[in-house]
Amino acid sequence: MFYRLFIKPFLFLFPAEKAHHISTSIFGIITSIPVLKSIVKFIFSYDAPVLEKTVFGIRFPNPVGLAAGFDKEGKHYKAMSHLGFGFIEIGTVTPKGQAGNLQPRLFRLPEDKALINRMGFNNEGVEGMVERLKKDTSRHIIIGGNIGKNKVTPNEEAINDYEICFNALYPHVDYFVVNVSSPNTPNLRALQDKEPLNRLLARMAELRQTKKEYKPILLKIAPDLGFEQINDTLDIIESNKIDGIIATNTTISRENLKSGQNRIDEIGNGGLSGQPLHKRSMEVVKYIRSRKPELAIIGVGGICSDKDAINMLAAGADLIQLYSGMIYEGPSIVRKIKKAIKNSI
Ligand code: FNR
Repeated sequence: MFYRLFIKPFLFLFPAEKAHHISTSIFGIITSIPVLKSIVKFIFSYDAPVLEKTVFGIRFPNPVGLAAGFDKEGKHYKAMSHLGFGFIEIGTVTPKGQAGNLQPRLFRLPEDKALINRMGFNNEGVEGMVERLKKDTSRHIIIGGNIGKNKVTPNEEAINDYEICFNALYPHVDYFVVNVSSPNTPNLRALQDKEPLNRLLARMAELRQTKKEYKPILLKIAPDLGFEQINDTLDIIESNKIDGIIATNTTISRENLKSGQNRIDEIGNGGLSGQPLHKRSMEVVKYIRSRKPELAIIGVGGICSDKDAINMLAAGADLIQLYSGMIYEGPSIVRKIKKAIKNSI
């Protein structure tokens, strides 16, 4: 309520990317002051043993995670952890730092409770992320490392980029996400095709075998894949012993939007997230669950209420993530969802 009445109207005065920087900076300062941090924790935390869940070998305190893209460089997860998330995915990170696409590149569609972004993997590069993680010696939140390739790297050499990120982050994250589904890096999604995907995931699994400690690897897919391509993807995941799937990333579809066509045309290319994505991401999760009763699934896409979260879990997701829903509903959505899950058990 407080967020929707006061904070959101203030933040929505600014362009979306600027609002992101303002809110993360202010929240970072608030949570660096012990007394304020305790108040934040008091307001947002909601723990219950029934919310705990073991998925791909990791014990999660609750199944609600912050989706990739909010903390692309590992700068905000500490502050965000005080909002009660069970896990936070950082990235997508690339080997070398890159600026991403020209601004503006993040847009709101308030009538649809949606966002369109074409950020283009803007980040400082994996080494900066590693340095930050190394310094955080008292980390208590589960962190996923979402990895990708640099824009300038041709797809034929993409494996090398994923390998660099994988090796660099290996000691510092709890699980990995191979991201081949962002619509904002030219040709990235072609890596979802059978052969390149098989090569990429086989290499990740092979690399993991050289490590002392086992870390789960997940694949993040686009909602725009057809069911046949999902079938192929599931076969590849199984044959390479990949631990799970994240469904889904943003969509290039613009179907069923309430926002005016002019506004949509004016924004142009990018991945759509938020409420309009929910139906499709649920459909994909349901389909995957029907094909693979044992596979770990993280369901993400348009979770904007506790009801959406419960439905996503009922569709077959073991864990859920959100991003856009928090922009529209505020951070208290995490606590609300956890309460609803507890009451549904
Ligand atoms: C994203 N998302 C994303 N995903 C990813 O794997 N790597 C990334 O770098 C990003 N970057 C990113 C930036 C912005 C601004 C948004 C809104 C989203 C996708 C995100 O993790 C998630 O899959 C989708 O946004 C769908 O979930 P929501 O937002 O509908 O809850």
